[in-house]
Amino acid sequence: MKIRMATMEDLEAIAAIELRCFPIEEAATEKDFKERLTVYPNYFWVMEDKGKIVSFVNGLVTDESILQDKMFEDAKMHDENGQWQMIFGVNTIPEYRRQGCAEAIINRVIYDARAQGRKGLVLTCKEKLLHYYEKFGFKNEGISQSTHGGAVWYDMRLTF
Ligand SMILES: CC(C)(COP(=O)(O)OP(=O)(O)OC[C@H]1O[C@@H](n2cnc3c(N)ncnc32)[C@H](O)[C@@H]1OP(=O)(O)O)[C@@H](O)C(=O)NCCC(=O)NCCS
Repeated sequence: MKIRMATMEDLEAIAAIELRCFPIEEAATEKDFKERLTVYPNYFWVMEDKGKIVSFVNGLVTDESILQDKMFEDAKMHDENGQWQMIFGVNTIPEYRRQGCAEAIINRVIYDARAQGRKGLVLTCKEKLLHYYEKFGFKNEGISQSTHGGAVWYDMRLTF
C-alpha cells in the first residue's frame, strides 16, 4: 500500500469510489473533484494497492475556522497560506475497510498539515463516527450548521 497525491488521471476512479461510499445526496460530483484536482491537487491524498485506489482524503486550506458547506463546491475558497486544513471526504472502498487504510491517510494528512505550519484540522462527521475521529485527537464542538445532504453533522477540530 502506498500513499501519494492524486492527479487528474485519477478523476474517474475517485468519482466512482465516492459514489460507493456516500449516498447520492452527500456525494461530491465528478465536476467537484475536477475542480479540486485543478485548484488543490496537493491536498488530495490517495492510497493505492497494486495500482488501484482503495482509499482517499481531500480538503482545502483556509483561514475560515468553521467548515462551511459551500467549500465542498467552491474549490476557489482554497487559500494556500490558510491556517486550517479542512477534511471533506474520507473514503475507503468496502472491501478494504477495517484494515487501517483511512487511519494511515488521516495520520499522513495530520503529519503534512503540521509540517506546513497549519493551526490544525477541521472536519464534520455524523454521530456514529465521533469516536473514530476522537482517536486522532479531534474534539467535538457540537452540532454543525451544515445541512449537507439533509443529515445532522458535528464540527470536529484537531488543534496542534
Ligand atoms: C469511515 C471509513 C472512511 C473508514 O475507513 P477504514 O479504512 O475502514 O478506516 P480504519 O480501518 O482506519 O478504521 C475503521 C474501523 O476499523 C478498525 N480497524 C482498523 N484496523 C483494523 C484491523 N486490522 N482489524 C480490525 N479492525 C480494524 C478501526 O479501529 C475502526 O474501528 P472503530 O470504528 O471502532 O474505531 C469507511 O468506512 C468509509 O468509507 N465509509 C463511508 C464513507 C464515510 O462515512 N466516510 C466518513 C465521512 S466523515
